[in-house]
Amino acid sequence: MAAQTDRGVPLSTLSPKFLHTNSTSHTWPFSAIAELIDNAYDPDVSAKQFWIDKTVVKGEVCLSFMDNGNGLDHETMHKMLSFGYSDKIAVNGLEPIGIYGNGFKSGSMRLGKDAIVFSKSKSISCIGMLSQTYLEKIGAKQIIIPIISFENKKSNRNIL
Ligand SMILES: Nc1ncnc2c1ncn2[C@@H]1O[C@H](COP(=O)(O)OP(=O)(O)OP(=O)(O)O)[C@@H](O)[C@H]1O
Ligand SMILES: [Mg+2]
Repeated sequence: MAAQTDRGVPLSTLSPKFLHTNSTSHTWPFSAIAELIDNAYDPDVSAKQFWIDKTVVKGEVCLSFMDNGNGLDHETMHKMLSFGYSDKIAVNGLEPIGIYGNGFKSGSMRLGKDAIVFSKSKSISCIGMLSQTYLEKIGAKQIIIPIISFENKKSNRNIL
């Protein structure tokens, strides 16, 4: 196990197997879908529309969930793909549904083994991946989450 310590005190870590474990709280898939809808509706995102679709990518069935909300930046994507970080607050009297910082992980991993998140807002585009297949293939001992983000400038698109 990779030794990760904070001033000599061991950090608690998460095995990749936990991604499946955590998803079993959804006994049926519709509560998993509800987690994704709740996230789009919450005041930090405030989406007006939400689309659910099914496509096939390279022979694999793929569900897509799209909202037209505020999107996110690199730091928020990191929190989205981590566990237990939620800092939602009420906006204009709309109380957030999300409080635990877990719904996206439990929901998405109940619906599939792999999730890719694409976000585009005015200034920044961001892509993040939470993939059990990838973690198994590389023999990961911990959950790693590749994230890339771009600044949306007309002249040059800087990878951050
Ligand atoms: N559709 C989305 N657009 C932008 N940001 C999102 C979206 N979905 C999730 N996020 C971000 O990812 C974070 C984690 O989502 P997650 O559902 O795991 O936790 P939560 O909604 O904060 O709490 P809960 O576990 O109670 O649902 C959210 O707090 C939010 O910042
Ligand atoms: Mg949520």
